[in-house]
Amino acid sequence: MSVGDDKDVERVLFSRPPSDLEDGTAFLPGDLPPPLRLSRMLRVDQAGEQGAVRIYGGQRAVLHEGEVGELIAHMAEQEEVHYRTFNELLNRHAVRPSLLAPFWHRIGYALGYASARLGAESAMACTVAVEEVIDAHYAHQLEWLRRFREQEELLDTIERFQAEEAEHRDLGLAHDAESAPAYPLAQRVIKGMARWAIRIAERL
Ligand SMILES: [Fe+2]
Ligand SMILES: [Fe+2]
Repeated sequence: MSVGDDKDVERVLFSRPPSDLEDGTAFLPGDLPPPLRLSRMLRVDQAGEQGAVRIYGGQRAVLHEGEVGELIAHMAEQEEVHYRTFNELLNRHAVRPSLLAPFWHRIGYALGYASARLGAESAMACTVAVEEVIDAHYAHQLEWLRRFREQEELLDTIERFQAEEAEHRDLGLAHDAESAPAYPLAQRVIKGMARWAIRIAERL
């Protein structure tokens, strides 16, 4: 392989040389090449937002009246925007969606529906657990995007969505999530499920 070929390979794998990264630590041996990292990021975020749409959809099917109904509708509308945005981003970057999309579709709805059937507090507890995991997940992605500095638009988008996920968590806490039966156990179980889903959706 000639030097020219090597350069081509490098150009394909790294949209900028690793040494250009802001603090020199963003790309270390063993790290994923930025384009691969970016496709995994978009894939998992699209799957996550799909799950969120379905969770709030399941909750809405049960709790559609009064203040709690309005609150869930408000969060569901924001999740719709997040989901649509990541659908567009997947198309633009030619990234395939998660192979498990039909599963996220069902499990999201089931989780939302079941939590709402247990009562408004349990629905809010589910929101707190899921949104706390998503908040941390987006924070982790933002850290990388700030160092990578090539995807300013995506950075702005995720910053905006992260603020809304944090707002959802705070709304859940303000609406008695912590009074739900078995709150600490439910938090552990739902957070565990959400973290597991994130790891799988990045790859599959
Ligand atoms: Fe969202
Ligand atoms: Fe959210």
